[in-house]
Amino acid sequence: MTDIATTTLAGPDLAMGVPISEIGDGAMLLGHVSGEPVVLARRGHELFAFDAFCTHYGAPLVDGLLVEDTVRCPWHHACFSMRTGEAIRAPALDPIACRRVEQRDGNAYVGEKLALPAPPRSSTSASMPQSIVIVGGGAAGNAAAEMLRREGYTGRITMLSADQSPPCDRPNLSKGYLAGMSPAESNPLRPPDFYKEQRIELKLNARVASIDTTKRQARLADGTSHGYDALLLATGAEPVRLDVPGSGLPHVHYLRTLADGDALVAKALTSQRAVVVGASFIGLEVASSLRARNIAVDVVAPDDVPMERILGTEVGKFVRALHERHGVTFHLGTTVASIDERGVTLKTGERVAADLVVVGIGVRPALSLAEQAGLAIDRGVIVDEYLETSSPGIFAAGDIARWPDRLTGERIRVEHWVVAERQGQTAARNILGRRERFEAIPFFWTEQHDFSLAYVGHAERFDKAEIEGQLDAEKHECTITYSRGGKKLAVALVRRDLEGLVAEVEFERAIRAEQPTIVTRWRRGEIRLTRTWSRTCARFTDRWPVRFWLSISLKRCASFVKSSSAGALE
Ligand SMILES: Cc1cc2nc3c(=O)[nH]c(=O)nc-3n(C[C@H](O)[C@H](O)[C@H](O)COP(=O)(O)OP(=O)(O)OC[C@H]3O[C@@H](n4cnc5c(N)ncnc54)[C@H](O)[C@@H]3O)c2cc1C
Ligand code: FES
Repeated sequence: MTDIATTTLAGPDLAMGVPISEIGDGAMLLGHVSGEPVVLARRGHELFAFDAFCTHYGAPLVDGLLVEDTVRCPWHHACFSMRTGEAIRAPALDPIACRRVEQRDGNAYVGEKLALPAPPRSSTSASMPQSIVIVGGGAAGNAAAEMLRREGYTGRITMLSADQSPPCDRPNLSKGYLAGMSPAESNPLRPPDFYKEQRIELKLNARVASIDTTKRQARLADGTSHGYDALLLATGAEPVRLDVPGSGLPHVHYLRTLADGDALVAKALTSQRAVVVGASFIGLEVASSLRARNIAVDVVAPDDVPMERILGTEVGKFVRALHERHGVTFHLGTTVASIDERGVTLKTGERVAADLVVVGIGVRPALSLAEQAGLAIDRGVIVDEYLETSSPGIFAAGDIARWPDRLTGERIRVEHWVVAERQGQTAARNILGRRERFEAIPFFWTEQHDFSLAYVGHAERFDKAEIEGQLDAEKHECTITYSRGGKKLAVALVRRDLEGLVAEVEFERAIRAEQPTIVTRWRRGEIRLTRTWSRTCARFTDRWPVRFWLSISLKRCASFVKSSSAGALE
């Protein structure tokens, strides 16, 4: 993480002007203006200047990628408009500041900051929901609530969260916070007054017990009800519980909520030896963070190779060796038989001493509410490409949602922070009637010891994992490509941030290439025409060659175009 406050200014003073010829098309130049780091970027004849650091975790945007008039962050792929600074895609939730650029005598001069774009006009038409209830105060729920306000929605927003604390940065709980590198203040996604200022009614310890889809009411466990016109289900996932003798002892911990994180950090302060049960992402991130606190760590898991199913054998072996170099001991191919105050007994009979046990054996999507409400379920809540469930007006996002993925052509459900936030944002827009497909390429990252990996795409199953580059103790810098039946499904990047962004853009292009034609989309009812467009098209169709052509290939479309008088061109 870059500490913005202590970063020394690099590059030229952009206020004094730099020759435009020194900035190639699609390139960025790091400089400074009035003592602040600023990036100057060029796209064709246009120049843009903006804050040098991402508002998520402070990555240097100059190492990112320009895509049309946006800049993408190299670390976790947030995307900002270079015209307005708007954070178009999570995980960044706040905009960057853009600056005025003047082109004179072959030089570019960067001036003052531009005003942030005014919030859009309020959306209060009769077709808008008057009241929106969001069930869940996590990544998806929070991003949705924020996006509703950013889109100018002025109606009532109620966020009901079973958590006892406001939305928090869950990925930080197993990384910086547990390792003692980032303070408790870094956990909340927003300052305490944010929700009040945004007129988002955030209700904590508010577990929804049932949803009445006929009366459109969400009922809490305490009997109170919240009526809604539209509802977003974002109940996330719950840790799978270990069911062995002693698993209920006080020194056995799980990690999902901020309260879990606080309890684990408090226990870690007095612990000497930990057993981590589970060798997937959470377990291994916890192992790494506990080692950073100099706690002895043993990892117990049934796998032969950690994370093999998701990342492949080679990466899994590398990860194991990485942890061993940092002092972690593995007990693989076995599980825990019982736990007592002094340690853990394995199925093999082996005893492992521990005064702290952390269980990370996976999560299950929290589906009980969706089941009770009668929504279509298939190992997740089934949603369409607009994230709407089988019950009109009820949307679902995040760890619970199983959506039609354009890249694989399969319905998938993932447990990634960035996906949950982006789905929350898309669901919010669709609640407001935008009809925006969810097409973001899945992305996740993990950090363990001095190693971090970014993963772009989704390969639930793969038959080939090809490593290009080096992945061993001396050097780790590589790209791992996962494919099935010759089709590239995902890539994992180690110390190759830019390649990760390029891969994301390539996947997006692949999806776009398979995009249905306008006519197909119109037939599906996804495209409607405004009155102005109808008239324009009607004039166009008056020309006989066009009419002839249309009558053959677009018969239905032509008659619709002439008669249509309502809707919006999307
Ligand atoms: C420790 C940890 C580290 C992680 N690290 C990473 C990482 O590095 N990268 C990555 O991509 N992903 C990571 N993840 C996964 C990521 O956090 C999740 O994918 C993401 O939080 C899912 O968002 P969500 O909104 O679907 O669910 P959540 O964020 O879990 O939010 C669910 C919300 O629903 C509430 N809720 C549940 N049931 C009810 C109910 N009946 N009534 C009311 N409220 C209810 C919960 O209280 C909670 O507020 C990590 C997860 C954890 C736990
Ligand atoms: S630092 Fe930019 S997206 Fe995380």
